[in-house]
Amino acid sequence: MSTIFPPVIRMEVNNKLLNVGLLMAATLVVAKLISSLLMSRSSRKRHLPPVVRASPPLIGGLLRFIKGPIIMLREEFPKLGNVFTLNLLGTKNITFLIGPEVSAHFFKASESDLSQQEVYRFNVPTFGPGVVFDVDYSVRQEQFRFFTEALRVNKLKSYVDHMVFEAEEYFSKWGDTGEIDLKYELEHLIILTASRCLLGREVRDKLFDDVSALFHDLDNGMQPISVIFPYLPIPAHRRRDRARKRLAEIFTDIITSRKSSSQCESDMLQCFIDSKYKDGRTTTEEEVTGLLIAALFAGQHTSSITSTWTGAYLLQHKQFLSTVLDEQKSVMKKHGDKIDHDILSEMEVLYRCIKEALRLHPPLIILLRYLHSDFSVTTRDGKEYDIPKGHIVATSPAFANRLPHIFKDPDTYDPDRFAPGREEDKVAGPFSYISFGGGRHGCLGEPFAYLQIKAIWSHLLRNFELELISPFPEIDWNAMVVGVKGKVMVRYKRRKLPIY
Ligand code: HEM
Repeated sequence: MSTIFPPVIRMEVNNKLLNVGLLMAATLVVAKLISSLLMSRSSRKRHLPPVVRASPPLIGGLLRFIKGPIIMLREEFPKLGNVFTLNLLGTKNITFLIGPEVSAHFFKASESDLSQQEVYRFNVPTFGPGVVFDVDYSVRQEQFRFFTEALRVNKLKSYVDHMVFEAEEYFSKWGDTGEIDLKYELEHLIILTASRCLLGREVRDKLFDDVSALFHDLDNGMQPISVIFPYLPIPAHRRRDRARKRLAEIFTDIITSRKSSSQCESDMLQCFIDSKYKDGRTTTEEEVTGLLIAALFAGQHTSSITSTWTGAYLLQHKQFLSTVLDEQKSVMKKHGDKIDHDILSEMEVLYRCIKEALRLHPPLIILLRYLHSDFSVTTRDGKEYDIPKGHIVATSPAFANRLPHIFKDPDTYDPDRFAPGREEDKVAGPFSYISFGGGRHGCLGEPFAYLQIKAIWSHLLRNFELELISPFPEIDWNAMVVGVKGKVMVRYKRRKLPIY
C-alpha cells in the first residue's frame, strides 16, 4: 500500500480498495455460481424415465404393445410408476404419462410442443385430402372451429329432435315381447341417427343403404396394420379408397343441389357447407365430405359402444336401474312424454350412469402425441424425469380411469361417485377423468354423445321392461375402438312406465 497518501486519504483509499476488493470477490462468487449453475444445467445428465424390459431385444417392446397395451400398463405401472418408456424396434420410444399428476402437459401443451399430426396421420386416406390431419395446424384449427359451431347448443337442440324421432321410429318396430342383441340394435339406431343429424335428410331418406355400405367399407379399411402402413395395397385398403371416392361423388351431388336450390337444413352437413375460413373462403365439397367422415368416425362407434355398456350395467345393477327409473318418472311428471334438449339436460342420474359406464370402458384406450421439444415431469412420488423430443407421448383413459387413488373401488360400477359431495372425476384436477380426453384437444362431440345416449335410454326405460339374459359382456380389446365382445342378449316387454 502506498505511503505517499496522508492518513485520511489513505483510509479512504484503503476503504475504496476494500470496497473494490469486496465487489470483485462478490462478482467472482456470483459469476462462479451462475456458471456452475449453467454448467450443471447443460452438462447434467438427463434423467430419462425407466424403460420397460422386453425380450427379444429389438422387437420385444413392439410385441408387448401388440399383445395389448393395457396388459402391458397393468404389469409395468406397479413396477415403474407413472412415467415410463417403451422402446419399439430400437429406434422409436413411447413414453407413457399415467395419471392426472403427470398428464397435464400431454393435454395442455401447444401444438408446436406436442402434436397430433404425426401420430394420427394414418387417418388421411379415410378422411380424405384437405382435412384434419392432412392440413397444417392453422387450417386444422379452423376446421375444428367448424365442428365447434356445428355442435353449439342451438344446433344441438335441433339434432335432439332428430334423435328422439329416430329412437321412436326404430323401437316402434319391436314387437310387444321379444329377445334382441342390444349391441346390434343400438349400433343400427346410432347409424340412423348419425345419418340424420350429421349427413343430412337426403342420405337418411334416400341413400341410407348405399351410404352405410360405403361407410362399412371405410370402416373395414381401418385395420391395425393401417396405423403403420396406411397405404399398403391390401384389399381392405382398396375397398376403402373406392368407398371414399364414391362418397365424395354422392356428397358433391347433394351439396350442389342444396346450393342451387338455396335449400337450408338443420344438420351438420349444412353447417359445414356454410362454414367460412378466416380469409373468407368457403369450404369445398371435398372438405365438407372429409369433415363429415371425420365426425362419423369420431362419434359413431364411441357412442354406440357407450350406449351398450350403459344398458348392460343398468340391467345388471338393479339399484341403479331403479334410481334411473325414478328420475324418468319425476321428469315425466313435470314434462309428460315430451323429450327435448332441455329435458334431457335435466337427467342428472342418467348422465352419471352413462359417465360411469364410460369411465370403466372408454372406447379410445390410448391417446398419442409426438414430442417436438424436451420437457420434464415430476411423478407422484417426487421423481423428476426428462422426456426428450422425438418420443411419442401417450396417456391411457382405460388405465387412468381406474386409478385407485382417484376412484374409490375403481373396478366397481358406482355412478354416485360423480354425485355432488363426491365428484371423484375432479379429485385431482381436470385430468382425473379422461374418457373424452381434455385440454387443448378435448372431445368436441361430448354433449352430442350424451344427448344421443340419453335420448335412446330414456325412450327404452319409459317404454320397455328389460332383462339381461346373456352373461355380462366382456371387453373386445382387439377392436380399434375398444368395445363390447359378442352379443348382449336382452329380453324385452313393452310397457308404459307408470309415473304414480
Ligand atoms: C361417447 C362418445 C365419444 C367419446 C368417448 C369420445 C372421445 C374422444 C376423445 C378421447 C378425444 C380426444 C382424442 C385425443 O386427445 O387424441 C376426442 C376428440 C374429438 N371428438 Fe370425440 N368422443 C365421442 C363422441 C364424439 C362425437 C359424437 C363427435 C362429433 C359428432 C366427436 C368429435 C370429436 C372431435 C372433432 C375431436 C377432436 C378434437 C380436437 O382434436 O381438438 N366425438 N373424442
